[in-house]
Amino acid sequence: MTLRNLIIGMMMAAPALQAATPVYLDESKPLEDRVEDALSRMTLEEKVAIIHAQSKFSAPGVPRLGIPELWTTDGPMGVRPEVLWDEWEQAEWTNDSCTAFPSLTCLAATWNPEMAKLYGKSIGEEARFRNKSVLLGPGVNIYRTPLCGRNFEYMGEDPYLASRMVVPYVNGVQDNGVSVCVKHFALNNNEINRHTSNPIVDDRTLYEIYLPAFKAAATEGNAWSFMGGYNLFRGQHASYNPILMNDILKGEWGWDGAVISDWGAVHDTKSAVEGGLDMEFGSWTDGLAGGASNAYDNYWLAKPYLKGIQDGTYSEEQLNDKVRRVLRLTMRTAMDRNRPWGSMVSDEHKAACRQIGGEGIVLLQNKNNLLPVNTDKVKKIAVIGENAIKMMTVGGGSSSLKAKYEITPLDGLKARLGDKAEIVYARGYVGDPTGEYNGVVTGQNLEDPRSPEELAAEAEKVAREADIVLFFGGLNKSGHQDCEDTDRLGLELPYGQDALIERIVAANPNTAFINISGTGVAMPWASKVPAIMQAWYLGNETGNAIADVISGDVNPSGKLPYTYYATLDQCGAHKLGAYPGTPGVDVLGNEVMDMPYNEGIYVGYRFIDKNKLKPTFPFGHGLSYTTFEYGKPTVSKSVMTPDETVTVSVPVTNTGSRSGQEVVQLYIRDLKSSVDRPVKELKGFEKVDLAPGQTKVVHFEIGKDALSFFDADRHEWVAEPGKFEAVIGASSADVRGSVPFTLK
Ligand code: BGC
Repeated sequence: MTLRNLIIGMMMAAPALQAATPVYLDESKPLEDRVEDALSRMTLEEKVAIIHAQSKFSAPGVPRLGIPELWTTDGPMGVRPEVLWDEWEQAEWTNDSCTAFPSLTCLAATWNPEMAKLYGKSIGEEARFRNKSVLLGPGVNIYRTPLCGRNFEYMGEDPYLASRMVVPYVNGVQDNGVSVCVKHFALNNNEINRHTSNPIVDDRTLYEIYLPAFKAAATEGNAWSFMGGYNLFRGQHASYNPILMNDILKGEWGWDGAVISDWGAVHDTKSAVEGGLDMEFGSWTDGLAGGASNAYDNYWLAKPYLKGIQDGTYSEEQLNDKVRRVLRLTMRTAMDRNRPWGSMVSDEHKAACRQIGGEGIVLLQNKNNLLPVNTDKVKKIAVIGENAIKMMTVGGGSSSLKAKYEITPLDGLKARLGDKAEIVYARGYVGDPTGEYNGVVTGQNLEDPRSPEELAAEAEKVAREADIVLFFGGLNKSGHQDCEDTDRLGLELPYGQDALIERIVAANPNTAFINISGTGVAMPWASKVPAIMQAWYLGNETGNAIADVISGDVNPSGKLPYTYYATLDQCGAHKLGAYPGTPGVDVLGNEVMDMPYNEGIYVGYRFIDKNKLKPTFPFGHGLSYTTFEYGKPTVSKSVMTPDETVTVSVPVTNTGSRSGQEVVQLYIRDLKSSVDRPVKELKGFEKVDLAPGQTKVVHFEIGKDALSFFDADRHEWVAEPGKFEAVIGASSADVRGSVPFTLK
């Protein structure tokens, strides 16, 4: 055959080849057609195989049909290093170091949806580069108690703020052909008793406080997968809770994605099958390994389920729904041949990490304009505290990372200010000198044999001799701090820091306390320390982002995404005595810990407002190195119908001498209602960038959603006609103006 004939032959065969492409592999065909086609070709065994894990983090796909494996990875703040097939321990890869991004509380503190998009895009690119189809995050459980060990993985106390921030994160990740797995649906608001905690929550509280961010992720963000929590709800485990999964997520919200269990959250086949779970991961293979050829085959949704279908206990149609969802997830990710390739630890990701960190840092207090450090006057800087040198990307549980590098605060400050001022470091206290998680080690040796008094005395001396003191304290990622699987034991700072701070500020009144944590801590000394900054866990670029703000290169613009309680009893969950709960039983008669949410909808600033309390720092609070003045807010019309919107406008001026960003907040107050309502609720925010002297008018569109409460009896959102007030604030406590309007 001549070459010419061969080519002609191939061209003639091409249409035939094309026609032979099965629908499920043909990306030009509608997704649902492809899903149905794949489903119709699968055996019962293949269907059961696809809905549970084959390794710690993957499911098998359908090799016979060329449907690829589905690989998942933690977590919300960076792509977890590779672990062994069947273990949590390291696979010891040498090319799986990632960009560690700032904690999600920091992201929420930016109050900037563009930062959330950038975050999602960047972390999605890393997940894609590592060939993962599902990123296990973000987390949007509500900050109900400051003690929750995983607050740092979530987006704060307010459902509106978390909703607005989660949607762009989801979009950013999924643009890469990588699915998010929004977690932990729902009510996973504490780590204490995390497998047996059974929140007792009424419908109104559920819908108004704990569901909105998940709903936004599902319906506006089109998140392709969700993770169920370990906890229970009304006596049934969240990962297969029929109310949460079937009625709400897949029913009311019409969501077509796949529900993935939390790792080891499944406890029986029947409940999992019927409760809307689609994929089982992380069940304890150890216990099953004895006598079993393959532990994964013995998952609750493996052989026991297959057997149940074969003997007629369960229907194949019910299984098909789960399989369709897993196929959809796979086609949207691993089978999308047009998805981008991704990238790892790129310069763009480093820059994103630094920018998000800088925008999320919150300047809580700044008396006498102590910050930024003025190197015209400051010639000697004392840096004190373990958190100035401790690497924090390792630890905290499943979000622990193997970061490509990590710049500590001390390193960052030396790089930025070291040639302008002398920087002297003193440890001050020893907290936790270890740095290891699942075999990843920081490589730092932070042991210090000196006595607490020796350490404190040295710090005091260094402080006294300096022009300014930067005290880096707070928490870390060890157990009972910002760490999965444990809650904190109290609101206080650990390791004797309170006494040390008092001593340092007495030695040198020019002291700034920089709190490294993912949650709030008690600061009984707050009135004595002129400057206080919340600096989170900022990942790779920690030191640079902090130095940017401390030096004044970046003007702080973060605002608190949660209330900074002075004492635990300012928090409804604690004040009303329902933490950590009382013994009860679940629907199967197993012992659980009932945790009544007695505070109801009064979470965070809603509780503070209602009880007229004064927290250390209120929700939404954050200062700048410049000042902003707000003009009088106005409304586009004073009466609106339920089908209309009203526009609230407010001019904001930068009255200082530096450029800066201000987060303008809109709260709605219902002046008369048939039900008890919070004093006000956040329903809008906008971050504006203003040059010195510049004024911009900020506009908020208010529709009936912003005026509604959830009527549990009618099971619907209700906006009652009557008078409302649009309240404009620089924080939840710093109200700058208000304007009334009426809903007809
Ligand atoms: C955590 C999840 C995590 C999973 C996999 C669980 O213990 O609760 O958030 O994604 O482990 O590591």
